[in-house]
Parts: sequence; structure tokens; C-alpha cells
Amino acid sequence: MNEPSRPVAIVTGSSRGIGAAIAERLARDGHAVVINYAGRRQDADAIVERIAASGGDAVALQADIADPDAVQRLFDAAEARFGGVDVLVNNAGIMKLATLADSDDALFDRQVAINLKGTFNTLRQASRRLRDGGRIVNLSTSVVGLKLESYGVYAATKAAVETLTAILSKELRGRSITVNAIAPGPTATDLFLDGKSPDLIERMAKMNPLERLGTPADIAAAVSFLAGPDGGWINGQVVRANGGMV
Ligand SMILES: NC(=O)c1ccc[n+]([C@@H]2O[C@H](COP(=O)([O-])OP(=O)(O)OC[C@H]3O[C@@H](n4cnc5c(N)ncnc54)[C@H](OP(=O)(O)O)[C@@H]3O)[C@@H](O)[C@H]2O)c1
Repeated sequence: MNEPSRPVAIVTGSSRGIGAAIAERLARDGHAVVINYAGRRQDADAIVERIAASGGDAVALQADIADPDAVQRLFDAAEARFGGVDVLVNNAGIMKLATLADSDDALFDRQVAINLKGTFNTLRQASRRLRDGGRIVNLSTSVVGLKLESYGVYAATKAAVETLTAILSKELRGRSITVNAIAPGPTATDLFLDGKSPDLIERMAKMNPLERLGTPADIAAAVSFLAGPDGGWINGQVVRANGGMV
């Protein structure tokens, strides 16, 4: 008897950080996983090897999600390798902090290009190509709710992602595909830790009543729920995974 084929997940930006934890978690849940990355090929290959070593199936595929043609090729390559795509996790993102007064055009354009246009690029492909019954999970941020100074452009890109989440969930009517967003609070990755003093990190860790930073595994568990059978009735929602910060 043939083994039932694994559902197939693309996780953007899964060479490290939250994306790597999501990829490993979805692989453990039984998905074949596409490890997408921008530049760090060795990191992506290491995740593929770890998944393979624990009996999973994964492939590393480079694509700058800001480039629509590259995103189309990413989906082409995923379909060629695994036969189709069932789950898209839009995790790749960047964060550049500055007050509006100090934000230059490059800071604005780059965050919009990756966080918003990049998410649009993958959602457009997914909405055309995901198999019926699939799942889409977008990464937002709890800063959309907190509205901290200096997070303006970053939070604005993620607020737009939350809006796309709700609208796409309706546009996919009739295909049994759910579209949700996870909005993490401060999580211990390069994106959060780089450039912050130990004192600031400690203060931000204590902002939630559980008094610690999130871990990539915390966020991966929430994504696993939304991408798995138990999350099937959640659609068009934003789940804030932040220990109760906001
Ligand atoms: N960490 C937090 O506190 C936090 C809180 C709220 C929300 N988030 C969101 O969670 C997501 C993951 O964040 P993280 O903290 O894990 O970030 P991270 O550690 O900086 O990792 C970012 C990942 O995205 C990839 N990437 C960046 N630009 C890309 C592009 N143009 N095309 C394809 N891949 C790209 C990177 O690939 P390379 O390795 O090849 O560079 C890397 O795999 C982001 O959307 C972020 O906004 C994070």
C-alpha cells in the first residue's frame, strides 16, 4: 500500500529565527517543508539536514520575496519537487526602527518591499495555486496593538498584512482554505535582539505578565495549531502570541 503523501508547506524566511522553528515544527507535524531564505544558504541547508535527520522531508529554496518573479519561481519549484502546495507561512520580514522624523526613504521602501509587497507576492501565488483545504498563516506583530514609538513604519506594514489576511480569507470562499495571522510579541531572535542593550531587552521581556521573551518554539506552536487539524475553524483572525502583553 502507498504511504499517504505529506501535506506540503512553504515557510518564507525559514533559514533562522521564528521561521526555522516553524519549519521544524511543521516537519514534525508531518509536512514536507520548503525552507525559503534570502541569502544565508548554509543556515537553510542546516535546517534541511536537521529535518532529514529526524525523518522529515525538506528542501532549501532561495527567493527574495520582494521580487514577484522569484516568488513565482519559488512556487514552481515547490510544485515540481513535492507535487503541490497546501500551506503557506508568510514569515520572512525585516524590522528597522526609527521615529518618523528620523526615517529615511530607504527604511520605508525596504520594509514595505519585504513585509508588505513580499507578503502580497506570496499571497497572490498562494491564492491561485494552493490546493483546496489548505492553510495560510501570515506573521504580523503585537506592536500593531502596542503602538510603540519608533515602530511606525514596521507596524504599518504589519497592520496592512492583517488587513490582507481578513480580506483574502473571504476571497477564498468555497475552497476550504483558512487565512490567519499570528502576531508575536518580543521573541528572542536576531530581528529583536540586534542593536538592543541588555537592559532594554530585560525591560521588554518584563512587559508581559509571564515576564519572559517569547521563543521561536512558542510562535511555532501557535502556527502549528492554525496549520493543523485543530485550527480548522479559525479563519480571518489575528492571534496575538505574546504572553499577555497586549
Ligand atoms: N522576533 C520578534 O520579536 C518578532 C516579533 C513580532 C513579529 N516578528 C515577525 O516574525 C517574522 C520572523 O522574524 P524573526 O525574528 O525570526 O527574524 P530573523 O531572525 O531576522 O529572520 C528573518 C528571516 O527572514 C528571511 N528574509 C529576510 N528578508 C527576506 C527576503 N527578502 N526574502 C526571503 N527571506 C527573507 C531571512 O533569510 P536569511 O537568513 O537568508 O537572511 C531569515 O530567514 C518576521 O515577519 C517578523 O516581523 C518577529
